[in-house]
Amino acid sequence: MSGLADLADIGRDTRRGGYSRHGFDRAEADMRLWFFEQSTRHGLDVYTDVNGNIWSWWGRPGPDAVVTGSHLDSVPGGGAFDGPLGVTSALDAVDALRAKGFQPKRPFAIVVFVEEEGGRFGVPCLGSRLLTGAIDPDRARNLADPNGITLAEAATNAGVDPAHLGPDPVLDNVGCFVELHVEQGRLLGNHPIGVASSILAHGRWRFTVTGEGNHAGSTELADRHDPMLPAATAVLAARQAIVGSASRATIGRLVPNPGGTNVIASSVDFWLDARGDDTRKILDEITAAARSAADAEGCQLTVREESFGEAVHFDAALRDRIQGILPGVPVVPTGAGHDAGILAARVPTAMLFVRNPTGISHAPAEHAEPSDCAAGTQALADVLEDLCR
Ligand code: HGY
Ligand code: MN
Ligand code: MN
Repeated sequence: MSGLADLADIGRDTRRGGYSRHGFDRAEADMRLWFFEQSTRHGLDVYTDVNGNIWSWWGRPGPDAVVTGSHLDSVPGGGAFDGPLGVTSALDAVDALRAKGFQPKRPFAIVVFVEEEGGRFGVPCLGSRLLTGAIDPDRARNLADPNGITLAEAATNAGVDPAHLGPDPVLDNVGCFVELHVEQGRLLGNHPIGVASSILAHGRWRFTVTGEGNHAGSTELADRHDPMLPAATAVLAARQAIVGSASRATIGRLVPNPGGTNVIASSVDFWLDARGDDTRKILDEITAAARSAADAEGCQLTVREESFGEAVHFDAALRDRIQGILPGVPVVPTGAGHDAGILAARVPTAMLFVRNPTGISHAPAEHAEPSDCAAGTQALADVLEDLCR
């Protein structure tokens, strides 16, 4: 928990509450600096890959490495644990193993991935997607944040050469990856620790409705082409689409242009986050409702897929081995995406969860008790010791 205390004042969002730390922004730079300092203090050799992901090695880098870690960026107004807990617990686990005189027999590294939340450039797990070739580097370079700054520009400002974004040979050294993360639902009940079985399929789509900007007071009903109507229809359709389903559909970000109180918007952008077995069906239902409303209002609708990932089923042998190390630990699915979900396509991957008593995440109320965080660190240390033998 000491590491979390170090980070407690970095990137606080006084307007939203919680934290706003996004890929290559000031706050995340301060988080990265903290990790560089901690890595040195822990006697780890730090390497930054071509995407700005940070790898801290205990001993020499080499093949078949055991890797743990997570991310330090957040959603806007996010909690303190999502991401940082996996990084601070990894450092604490190294301390615990060193304190008992353990020396890994396999190469070992802690990794910090860039822009896991996609909070700035819109694509989740951007650093791990670039590393594993799961996103085209040219597309990534041109991703822009809400201020129009591209990833290429932001990376350059952070000292990462955008020309080299993409797969990095460091991935060839990874033998397995284990990510510890705060649990983001209420699935652990009376267990402080859990092991992940799977991650839901997850897509993000950008909807743009174009109408006719006009005066809120002088425009008669018959003359209105208000893009907010199809947008509102989509929000209601998203909820309707998941009634009776185990899937999830959320429209949590909606931006009217120009956004004046006394102005009929000329256009509205909003984003659909859909997850589960029937994301495509959900997308089609919401798109049909929005398009029908747009037609009725004399507006135009475009829909663009920004990211999609199939369901992830973690490596059964690694999961079973971890269950053998941590007897009685429950195996639970998650609806939250993680870098581990991206790495799972390339290397044997597992996740450990630390209980979150309220189940609230991506919000300031996100919490994990110090005793459960300590149990998580011990569980991670036990797993890493077994894997590094
Ligand atoms: O959106 C997610 O599920 C993850 O927290 N990036
Ligand atoms: Mn998250
Ligand atoms: Mn996370």
